[in-house]
Amino acid sequence: MTDAHPDLIDFGNGQPSLSLLPVAALRTAAEHCLSRGDATLLQYGTDQGDVGFRESLARFLTHRYATPVSAAHLMISAGVSQALDLVCTRFTRPGDTIFVEEPTYFLALEVFRDHGLQVVGIPIDDDGIRLDALHDALTRHRPTLLYTIPSFQNPSGSTMSAARREQLAEMSRAHDLLIVADEVYQLLDFGVAPPPPLAAYTHAARVLSLGSFSKICAPGLRLGWIQGAPALLDHLLQSGVVHSGGGLNPFTSGVVHSVLDLGLADSGLDALRGVYAERSAALCRTLRDALPMATFVEPRGGYFVWVQLPSTISASRLLPIAAAEGVGYRAGSLFSSVNGFAHSLRLSFAHYDDVALVLGVHRLARAVERYDTSAE
Ligand SMILES: Cc1ncc(COP(=O)(O)O)c(C=O)c1O
Repeated sequence: MTDAHPDLIDFGNGQPSLSLLPVAALRTAAEHCLSRGDATLLQYGTDQGDVGFRESLARFLTHRYATPVSAAHLMISAGVSQALDLVCTRFTRPGDTIFVEEPTYFLALEVFRDHGLQVVGIPIDDDGIRLDALHDALTRHRPTLLYTIPSFQNPSGSTMSAARREQLAEMSRAHDLLIVADEVYQLLDFGVAPPPPLAAYTHAARVLSLGSFSKICAPGLRLGWIQGAPALLDHLLQSGVVHSGGGLNPFTSGVVHSVLDLGLADSGLDALRGVYAERSAALCRTLRDALPMATFVEPRGGYFVWVQLPSTISASRLLPIAAAEGVGYRAGSLFSSVNGFAHSLRLSFAHYDDVALVLGVHRLARAVERYDTSAE
C-alpha cells in the first residue's frame, strides 16, 4: 500500500463537483412547495408516484427527448440504482442468466450479484451493443433480461445508433426478452442529442427505460423514474416495498415538482451540459498532448473518457504508481464480467475543474513514464 497523496486528483470519482450542485434552486423550490402549507407532501404517497408530478415530468421529458412521454408510462423511483434493484426483485430469480454490455457499469454488476444472477457479457462497438454477438448469445442462453446503457455509456462513452435501437426493440419482441435501459446520461449531451430513449421505440413492449435526477440535478435527491408500458409498470408496482412505503420518495418528488414547474431543471441542465462539455474538451486536449500513446474516442456527452493504454501497460499495475504521483482512476477490469480490459482505464471529468483535470493528466503521464514494463 502507498500512503495517500495529500491532494489526490481522483478521476475515478464519478460525482459532480460540489460547486455544481444546485443549492439555491432547491431552496427556491422547497420554499415554493412548502409555502402552500399542503401537508399531503409529508404523507405516504401513491405507489406509482404523484400524478401531478408525473404529468410535469412527462412534459419535461417530452420537451427534452423531443418525443412524446405520457404520465401513464412513468413510475417514480428513488434513482436508477434502486430501480434496477426493483426490476431484479420483480423480474428475476436467483440463478437466472442476464446479459450485460461488455464493458458495463461496475456497480450494476454488484446489484446483479446481490440477486444471485449469472451475468453474460455482450461486446459493444461505437454504435452500442453488437447485435450479431447478441444473436449468437441468444442461441446459447435464455436470459431473463438484457441490461444496456444506450447513451454516453459508462464506461465507454459510446451511444447506440437509432437503427440499432430499432433493431434491439424488435429483437426484444421476437425473443420475448426484457430490455432494461439505464439512461442516466441520456440528457447530458454536449450539443447533439442521442436518439430517444429505448422505451420510445415502436416495438418497445418489453423495454424499461430507467432515468434519474442524479446526473441532471443532484444525486443526493435519490429520485428517478421508470418509463415503460403500463403492463410492465404494473408488475413492478406489485412490490412489497412500494406498497408498504407508499411509493418511493414522495417528499422529494414534491420539491422536484416545483423545480420542474419553475423552469429550474431546464436552466440547470443546460448549464451543466456546458460545463461538462468544456471539462471533457480540456481533459481530451491534455491527454492528446501529454499522453500521446493513449487512444480514446472523445465523448459527446456523459461523464467519462475510456482510455486504451499500450498493451505493455496493465491499468491495475499502474494504479499504485499513479496514486504515488497523486492521481487515481478506475481500472478497466472493474467494468468487465470476465476480468477483461486489462489495458483500459476510465477517467471522469465531472468532479474537477479544468485546472485540476490538466494537472491530473500530467500526473498520469508521469506515472506511465515510471511504469516498468519489464514488470509485465
Ligand atoms: C450507468 C449508471 N447507472 C446508474 C448510476 C447511479 O444512478 P442513481 O444515482 O440514479 O442511482 C450511475 C452513477 O454513476 C451510472 O453511471
